[in-house]
Amino acid sequence: MEFNELIVERRSVRAYKDQPVDVEILKKIVEQAQMAPSWKNSQTARTYVAASKEILEELRAKGLPSFNQKSSSGAALIVTTFVRGVSAFTNGVADTELGDKWGAYDLGLHDAYLVLAAKNAGLDTLIMGLRDYQAIRALLQIPEEEDIVSVIAVGYRDQEPALRPRKPLEEVAKFF
Ligand SMILES: Cc1cc2nc3c(=O)[nH]c(=O)nc-3n(C[C@H](O)[C@H](O)[C@H](O)COP(=O)(O)O)c2cc1C
Repeated sequence: MEFNELIVERRSVRAYKDQPVDVEILKKIVEQAQMAPSWKNSQTARTYVAASKEILEELRAKGLPSFNQKSSSGAALIVTTFVRGVSAFTNGVADTELGDKWGAYDLGLHDAYLVLAAKNAGLDTLIMGLRDYQAIRALLQIPEEEDIVSVIAVGYRDQEPALRPRKPLEEVAKFF
């Protein structure tokens, strides 16, 4: 897909077909997300990909509130985390006042690549920040050193959502 089309056509999709996503396609998307930049190439983003029916059902039921369960029904789920205390840290000391926010920043970049890679592969996504991180940690055995951030639904869309309006450029950007 042409780049401008890709960024304009990506939407948060909240209705998916009951059509499994091939694991090889998911692997490709996750691999493309790895191309995102990160602080000193520290690559602290981690992904936990739920593609099979049984784990998906359990993850959805235990790890998501009901509205996000409904919105992501039929889609695969990718949990994204980052390893704390590494990105923008030297010998355990934060390099800037932002501390671990840089780890979250790196993961945001990673996830942006991921949703665009999914779109490019003919899939749609929903980033979900409302989730039960403790239930997800227990179910997927995610190490304590990682902060669990988002759950991303990836699947075949069953709706055509309208473009959500963006603020005027003058409100969010200043040019000097
Ligand atoms: C960090 C983050 C967390 C979000 N969490 C949720 C969520 O829990 N449930 C949901 O339905 N949408 C969630 N969204 C989707 C946003 O509502 C959506 O991206 C925004 O309204 C803009 O719409 P668009 O993605 O279609 O451009 C989240 C988006 C981001 C970036």
